[in-house]
Amino acid sequence: MSPILPGAPWLVAHRSMLGTNQPYKISLNGKDYVLWQNSQGEVFALNNVCPHMQAPLSDGWVCQERNTITCPFHALEFDGQGRLHQAGKVGAQPLIAPLELVIRGDCIWTYGGMDAKIPVPDLIERVSQGMTFVGVAGEKSIQGPFLHNLLINYDYNHQNGTHRELFGIKANRIPVFEKEGYWAKVVQELDRNDPTFADICRNPVILSAPKTYTSTLEYAFPAMTTFKTRFALGEILQVHVLYPETETRTKAFVLAFAKFNHPILKPLFKRSMLSAVATVVEQDARSIETLYPRQAAKIRLPNEEIMVHAEKLYREW
Ligand code: FES
Ligand SMILES: [Fe+2]
Repeated sequence: MSPILPGAPWLVAHRSMLGTNQPYKISLNGKDYVLWQNSQGEVFALNNVCPHMQAPLSDGWVCQERNTITCPFHALEFDGQGRLHQAGKVGAQPLIAPLELVIRGDCIWTYGGMDAKIPVPDLIERVSQGMTFVGVAGEKSIQGPFLHNLLINYDYNHQNGTHRELFGIKANRIPVFEKEGYWAKVVQELDRNDPTFADICRNPVILSAPKTYTSTLEYAFPAMTTFKTRFALGEILQVHVLYPETETRTKAFVLAFAKFNHPILKPLFKRSMLSAVATVVEQDARSIETLYPRQAAKIRLPNEEIMVHAEKLYREW
């Protein structure tokens, strides 16, 4: 395939997704790679195809002492530079191409071996300041082209369809939409429906939830969208990450951060926050995966200029 948005920086993993001394496979723009992190926190990435008889290295295992990945087929070992390790000797030349990574804090970025067209954004560092990392949720390969997955994050009209049960939104206002280059910012105000008696029985906490939410979304096109909301007990931040696995498959995951007014709340909210995020990703995925091929829209809804803007960035990349 020809790469989607060549030269874009892609956030392919958070350190916590890699584990320690475990192979972690990613697919980016039609190519497979294996990543692993050693106990010192160094991260390595190689083309996933074994140069002997083309087995997937990510099905193999990591040797902690030699910092190598072992092929699952005939157990040949390769280091992070792609050199063969055999009988105590290290090959002079790499036999596998490494994938160049850019590591920013706990985030692993790559240009997929292409020349950089835009810098790695500093959006996460900026918006997560003073917050603690809660976890990763909604890690999923979605059947659907990158553009469809991208646009749903710029779509301010799908909450009453795609996410109807989750949010119960009555009204949705967008008082702010600013953009500059590949960055954009949106402020969204949502009014929720009054909870029904059944809702209150199911979840009495709902009574303490505000009727109106104000969220700030910031975009670092094309890799991510950040979504921040303040509520009575603190503040939550979700970083929605996307990258193209193939022409028809897109990887999604969400990094969750929070700032709680009381530290005791963190363990209590961690589970429910991560599971709510996973539900949102599932619902978006279902909408995307069931779409028919795109045609020119015969209807326009409010605030669609935000989505039109993102599509323009994509088409004019
Ligand atoms: S295929 Fe990898 S060692 Fe043979
Ligand atoms: Fe959504």
